[in-house]
Amino acid sequence: MPAVFTFLFLMKPYYITTAIDYTNAAPHIGHAYEKVLADVMARFQRLTGREVYFLTGVDQHGQKVQKSAEKMGISPQEFVDGVTEKFTALWSRLGVDYDGWAATTDEKHKRVVQAALQKLKDCGQLYTAKTKGFYSERAEQFLTDKERLEDGTFGEEWGTVTEIEEENWYFKLGEHVEWLRAFIQSHPDFITPAFRTADVLNALENSGGQDLCISRPVERLSWGIPLPFDERFVNYVWFDALVNYISFAGYLSEEAGNADMPVFARLWPADAHVIGKDILIPAHAIYWPIMLHALGFSDEEMPKLIVHGWWNIRGKKMSKSLGNVVDPQNVSDIFTPEGLRFYLMRDMATGYDADLSEERMEIAYNKELAGGLGNLLNRSLSMAQKYRSGVLAVSAYDDEIHQALRQTVADTVPRYLEKMQTWQIHQGIEEVWKIVFQANQFVDLTAPFKLAKDSEQAARLDSVLYHLAETLLHVSVLLTPIIPQACAKMREQIGWVMPEGFTFADLHWGLLKDGHQLNQPVPLFPRLELPVAE
Ligand code: MSP
Repeated sequence: MPAVFTFLFLMKPYYITTAIDYTNAAPHIGHAYEKVLADVMARFQRLTGREVYFLTGVDQHGQKVQKSAEKMGISPQEFVDGVTEKFTALWSRLGVDYDGWAATTDEKHKRVVQAALQKLKDCGQLYTAKTKGFYSERAEQFLTDKERLEDGTFGEEWGTVTEIEEENWYFKLGEHVEWLRAFIQSHPDFITPAFRTADVLNALENSGGQDLCISRPVERLSWGIPLPFDERFVNYVWFDALVNYISFAGYLSEEAGNADMPVFARLWPADAHVIGKDILIPAHAIYWPIMLHALGFSDEEMPKLIVHGWWNIRGKKMSKSLGNVVDPQNVSDIFTPEGLRFYLMRDMATGYDADLSEERMEIAYNKELAGGLGNLLNRSLSMAQKYRSGVLAVSAYDDEIHQALRQTVADTVPRYLEKMQTWQIHQGIEEVWKIVFQANQFVDLTAPFKLAKDSEQAARLDSVLYHLAETLLHVSVLLTPIIPQACAKMREQIGWVMPEGFTFADLHWGLLKDGHQLNQPVPLFPRLELPVAE
């Protein structure tokens, strides 16, 4: 790699984005999971010393929004503004700390979508055609014979399906399918987890090279971005939404006349598009790379997709019709925002589905956070206050039990880093919990309350208290991406301020110096008295 590219790469921020959430309804737990997952990775990357740009936002156009607004007798903008506030309030509550906010009704975004459409038209990628076909209002798309059931009808999931004939603008998607197939085969890191790649290749095999209709006539849908070259149409909502990943990163900002945007060449390509499995095919694995390719992006400029699974309820999908949609605000009222963050990260293996369980939430909070981590902090600091007025002494005492705890801490850090880098957040947490577990055992084994009664054991007691404080400090750094506020409180109680620019590489045994003053313990996770879950 030429030196200048190496330099640019080293300087490149970690650019992470998520799906932008539809603003046709209030946020639910699945939305919360995805944003927390991305936030955890953003915080983790920062602690590896990398600059991070974290973009998330809301998808505000489309027919569902137009219809909901009509029903309520308000303008679509008023409607989406109301729903958007619910999302932003939730992110602030859950500590989802993004750098950029992608709201698709933002004029800057609209101008970039229009510039991108114009660019595609200028290079001959768009054309008009009249088609007659079956249109699903719910899916906002034309259906093909593949969607028909055996009896020739379309399934209930498509809602009302009507036959219509209309003119529209099409994007020559089919022209690029061969390129995409070759790209996916030669870039196994395009989709994580890799097992989803086979589904994409199958979909390409089955759907052949159909072009993509990228317009909707204004009579049917006015709530969208007007095509810059044909005022009879607005842009198809998925095209508009996908462009957010580049528009808010500064793509075509000059052409669009957008000021104060990030420098696109610094951010792009995205290191992670965090999306759910339901929107991998066709939107993110087919339309999106082909749109980029047609706009002139090279293979090296394709983003990486991180595809997570779904939260279900007793094996069933959450849906309004089943009445089992879980409101993350309610859950965070009960289990605290960081209790919810911890549960969501702890109980889902990235890429796979998981069942949302109140019982498991209670265990995660009361047993693991309160009983495991909170209790360790509390008893360690209480003993240090009681026996040494909170002053630590570096002691010459050592034995196998002390060595074993130091060894576990030292072994855990690289294992944790590897798990987190590869999105195995739940395993990263498991690694840290090995420390928590062993440190609690360490208290039982070393019995500081007995040592305190024997003045000859003073050096040993000092060593025990020091080991506990130092271990807790390590834990407070490692868990920062997952439960940032609780970890900051832990460090406050330990009396240690994380220096500016501190990274995981700076984590080493001996951060607390001889004579270090600890603060008074304050319960981190007060136990929750909850009715036993059914
Ligand atoms: N607006 C589109 C995305 C456009 S991205 C250019 C959309 N919005 S959505 O609100 O329906 O979904 C947003 C994200 O939430 C998606 O990644 C989706 O997979 C995720 N989840 C929605 N329900 C979910 C669960 N039950 N569980 C986990 N995540 C799921 O699709």
